[in-house]
Amino acid sequence: MRKVIIDTDPGRDDAAAILLALASPELEVVGIVAVAGNVPLHHTERNARRIVDLSGRSDVPVYAGCERPMSRELVTSEHVHGQTGLAGYELPEPRTQLESRHGVDFIIETVMSAESGTIILCLIGPLTNIGTALVKQPSIAGRIREIVLMGGTRAEVGNITPSAEYNIYVDPEAADIVMKSGIPITIAPLDVTGLVLGGRERLARFANLGNRAGAAIAALLDFSHSLDLTRWDGIGAPLWDPCAVAYLLRPDMFKGKMVNVCIETTSPLTRGTTVVDWWHATGRRPNANFLFEVNVEGFFDLLTERFARLP
Ligand code: BDR
Ligand code: CA
Repeated sequence: MRKVIIDTDPGRDDAAAILLALASPELEVVGIVAVAGNVPLHHTERNARRIVDLSGRSDVPVYAGCERPMSRELVTSEHVHGQTGLAGYELPEPRTQLESRHGVDFIIETVMSAESGTIILCLIGPLTNIGTALVKQPSIAGRIREIVLMGGTRAEVGNITPSAEYNIYVDPEAADIVMKSGIPITIAPLDVTGLVLGGRERLARFANLGNRAGAAIAALLDFSHSLDLTRWDGIGAPLWDPCAVAYLLRPDMFKGKMVNVCIETTSPLTRGTTVVDWWHATGRRPNANFLFEVNVEGFFDLLTERFARLP
C-alpha cells in the first residue's frame, strides 16, 4: 500500500476523487487536508469530513489547512460547485471530528517522520498548503516520493481565464514553489481531464450501483448538466480531480510527456498560466510528467468498480 495525503477543496469532483482513493486498497490515505478553493475553508473542511463519513472510513483523519492563498485574495467557484461546495446531494452533518493540528503542520510532520521517499501527495485544489509547507520546512522536498496534481492546461486553454486553469490561477505563487521544488511531479491538466466527460450514461452507471456512495457521486457530478456544456460537446463536465487519483491507481492507462512547466505569477492578464515547454524550446529542465491521453473506457470501468465497493 502506498501512503497518500490528499489535499483538496471539496468540491463535487473532489468528492468523487476522495471516494475513489478511499475505496482503493492500493492506497493508504494517511490524511486529508482541506484548503480554501472552490468554497471557503469552513466549507471545504466540513465537506471533507462528510465525504469521509460517506465512505465509512472513520479512521481517516481530516485537517484544515490554509484559509487563503499565499499572497492573494481567495477566488472561489460557487458557480460550479454551489454555495456549500457539494450542492446536488444532501449529506448529513459530519460525525468525523476535525483534527486540531493545522493541515500544513500535519503535512510537514508526516513527511518528516515517515521513511524518506514514501509519502505521495495528491493535490486536487489550489496548491496553498503544500506551497506553505515547502516554505516553512524546505527539507520536506527531498523526502516526498511524488506529487500527482490536477491543475494547469496547455492546448485546452483556460477554464477560469482565457489562459489559466482554476487550481493554478487561485494560488500561482504556491504553484510556482511546487514546480521549482525538485519533487517528481505528474500533472493531470485540462488537456487530459477534458477527455473524461461526465455524460449522463456514465453517471447512470454510478447511480445504478445500488449503494449510497454511487447515488451521491452521480448526483454531485450531475451538476454539469446545469452548466453551459458547449465547451464539452454537450456531454458533461470533466471528472477533473478523479483523474489524479486514477493515475495513482493505474498509470498505465495514461500517456504523459516530461516537460518543463513554469507558472506565470506577474502578469495580471495571464496570471496562473502554465507555460508548458512542449517541444523543449527553452532548454529548461523538464520538471513534470504532463498527461495528455487516457483510456477513457478503462477510466470509467475503474471508477465504477471501485465505487461499487463503498457503502
Ligand atoms: C479544478 O477546479 C476545481 O473547481 C475542480 O475541483 C478541479 O480541482 C478544475 O479546474
Ligand atoms: Ca478540486
